[in-house]
Amino acid sequence: MLEAIPSLAELHRLGAAQQPVYADDAEVARVQAALRRRPPLVFAGECDELRGKIAEVAAGRSFLLQGGDCAETFDSVTAANIRNKLRVLLSMAVVLTYAAQVPVLKVGRIAGQYAKPRSRDTETRGDVTLPAYRGDAVNALAFDAASRRPDPDRLLEVYNHSAATLNLLRAFVKGGYADLRAMHGWNADFVHNSNVEARYEELVDEISRALAFMVACGVDNESFRTVDFYSSHEALLLEYEHALTRIDSRTATPYNTSAHLIWVGERTRQLGGAHVELLRHVRNPIGVKLGPTVTGDEAGALVDRLDPDHEPGRLTVITRMGADRIRDALPPIVEAVESTGRKVAWVCDPMHGNTFETATGYKTRAFSQVAEELNGFFDVHEALGTWPGGVHVELTGDDVTECVGGVDELAEADLANRYETACDPRLNRNQSLELAFLIADRLTSGRIRRVNPVQEFLAEDF
Ligand code: PEP
Ligand code: CO
Repeated sequence: MLEAIPSLAELHRLGAAQQPVYADDAEVARVQAALRRRPPLVFAGECDELRGKIAEVAAGRSFLLQGGDCAETFDSVTAANIRNKLRVLLSMAVVLTYAAQVPVLKVGRIAGQYAKPRSRDTETRGDVTLPAYRGDAVNALAFDAASRRPDPDRLLEVYNHSAATLNLLRAFVKGGYADLRAMHGWNADFVHNSNVEARYEELVDEISRALAFMVACGVDNESFRTVDFYSSHEALLLEYEHALTRIDSRTATPYNTSAHLIWVGERTRQLGGAHVELLRHVRNPIGVKLGPTVTGDEAGALVDRLDPDHEPGRLTVITRMGADRIRDALPPIVEAVESTGRKVAWVCDPMHGNTFETATGYKTRAFSQVAEELNGFFDVHEALGTWPGGVHVELTGDDVTECVGGVDELAEADLANRYETACDPRLNRNQSLELAFLIADRLTSGRIRRVNPVQEFLAEDF
């Protein structure tokens, strides 16, 4: 049993990277007190359920699909935006479930992903230097002094927007939108113009026939109509995450009730730092991002600290090495963590190691590099005999032009058309679906075939 949750002051004493500097401590305390009175956004029991499902991923029996915006914004909390993001994730999940015949665990990077670590504290344009944009949780994107001032009241807005988003997501996934019979409809509003589109429609037709067959046989299952969907974000801002950490009355243990799964980012994963200290005290399933400079010793020490009890499903390790480094950087990390005797969920973030800036000043990623990192991830795990458990992607349901390449062959010159992200470039809907097909191909052609519940059912004696 862990000692009590450290106080906020104790956490700050440990040193907390990437925090905003607020002008007025009393204002921050007032906001914190208000947040502590708000109801939890998720329940402890749901977090436990997700931990159980991540244990299935770690055991090689399921595949984790985690995705959403790099940075959600308050303005983008509209019904259409939330629906579009959900349906691209559902479409990807359908591709993976059907093409790879593997159960897919669906987790959104959504309903709380409002705070960003930045490589520089300030931004300079011409002769003006202002605080960097740190996400809508902290300040506003517009480049003027008032917008960039860190405002603690925004933390209340994070709570409100997360609550509204989660409410609609819960309604969508349980209220009929995720019904498999609606699959054609998920696509209806999109232009039917690509190979991916044709491949997707073909697959949906096949699933419809399979469903019709099952219904004709008398099967009518709840899982045709609803899906389980979980929320996640980077636990970055201590004031917010601490205020939403509550003692569950049922088990008398602490849970972070701001999301089902929270992760510690590459830039805040210092072993003795505040973020690791807060996260190690909560019972949620947690993630840790590891970049190419991490050593095997560091990775081993981190997993010991975050998962002292070797609890199945507790830890998801999200690697983001870069396409040209993954084949060298990943094996020692996998070996170091596996040698501790733990079964973690190994997840590939093929986005954050592959960002570059174009000559015209757009931050972008090439689809080919994203695909290359994913291929490296599958190759490494296949060589080591470990299960490539999932993918973590930045995507949107809209037809934005933020990443180059992919099925529509977006060029650097196209980026200006619809570049809408508040932070990192996201895969658009076609690129996301294309990635899902690529993963499905790897899962079906891979040498590591774990027995999953589908294969178990098919192999049962009858
Ligand atoms: C992110 O996920 O947006 C992010 C900042 O990633 P990382 O911690 O891997 O740099
Ligand atoms: Co990002």
